[in-house]
Amino acid sequence: CSAPPDLAMTAQATPAPGTRRRTLSGIKPTGVPHLGNYLGMIKPALALQRTHDAFYFIADYHALTTVRDPQAMREQSYDLVATFAALGMDFDAHTFFRQSDIPEVTELTWLLGCVTPFGLLERAHAFKDARAKNQDVEHGLVSYPVLMAADILIYDSHEVPVGRDQQQHLEMTRDIAQRFNHLFGETFVVPEARIEEAVATIPGIDGRKMSKSYRNDVPLFSTEKELRKTVMRIVTDSKGVEDAKDPDSDNVFQIFRHFAPPDAQKDWAARYRAGGMGYGEIKQATFEAINAEIGPMRERYFALRKDPAAMEDILARGAAKARRVARTVLNRARERCGYRPMDGTP
Ligand code: ADP
Ligand code: TRP
Repeated sequence: CSAPPDLAMTAQATPAPGTRRRTLSGIKPTGVPHLGNYLGMIKPALALQRTHDAFYFIADYHALTTVRDPQAMREQSYDLVATFAALGMDFDAHTFFRQSDIPEVTELTWLLGCVTPFGLLERAHAFKDARAKNQDVEHGLVSYPVLMAADILIYDSHEVPVGRDQQQHLEMTRDIAQRFNHLFGETFVVPEARIEEAVATIPGIDGRKMSKSYRNDVPLFSTEKELRKTVMRIVTDSKGVEDAKDPDSDNVFQIFRHFAPPDAQKDWAARYRAGGMGYGEIKQATFEAINAEIGPMRERYFALRKDPAAMEDILARGAAKARRVARTVLNRARERCGYRPMDGTP
């Protein structure tokens, strides 16, 4: 079956000169973001504001698979509004919103679910892990990748900046989009993952991938004193001050190098290899380097974080913009399936 040519064109056409490509990403409200989220996703995503049309959102529907406390859901969502504001998201030029403010996305999830092979979902890492551990698996966890595909496809997104752990979800999104397009005619833009190799997986203070669920994270925003304390807890080997050390296998250096200028990285790497440097010293330098980058944003974070009305205002403006796009794309998909498009502008 083939689509009406005009819509096929709009879905897949390369943007005209001067038209910016759309970048979209989401992050779950599961607590104050950590340095892994910052380096792996938030910072590269925000840098794209210069060249792209950015849509970034709080994935609070996704968080419902684990967050079951309504107050935590609200408060942790605010942590993200304040984070994106402090790190320089331009809420006027771009679009920042909360997933649950856009109900269209759950409707698209159903349409996409009807063309998603169950076998695809059974291969998802999160589902396989839960099964392997004999955990009870809820439908929300199984269909998590379908909701994520809807998030991405409903805004005609071209590029999705994420950390390495999201690569499989992006591949599934592409599969689902292609299958729908094949069955119903060109409807969705087939998006691309955008993974920055250098920061694809940041280690936590115990050397495993930094993750809230491992409790090995360095929170992006805390007091200076807490930041220093956490950095001092990074696990190292037991070499003494005089021993020569290997910067490439040391957890502290893996974090340090993302915050220090190239010259400082070279100097410190040489000091590791020469011996005569203790881990306490590089931890102090790492704390200072992180603090130099994050410190200036800390005040903005805590000021906005205290102001729910201001944060709700930011979210309301974002939702209005996001819903207009979501409604247009959802209607395109509804028509393809033989349903009446919804009237009215939300
Ligand atoms: P967590 O594992 O702490 O729950 P999330 O799954 O909420 O983190 O991740 C949000 C975003 O941050 C995703 O794009 C993810 O790829 C990225 N991210 C998370 N942890 C890391 C890490 N250790 N290194 C690089 N990127 C990461
Ligand atoms: N699953 C992502 C995570 O755990 C969050 C997310 C939800 C997302 N929807 C998205 C990321 C759409 C990118 C695009 O980090």
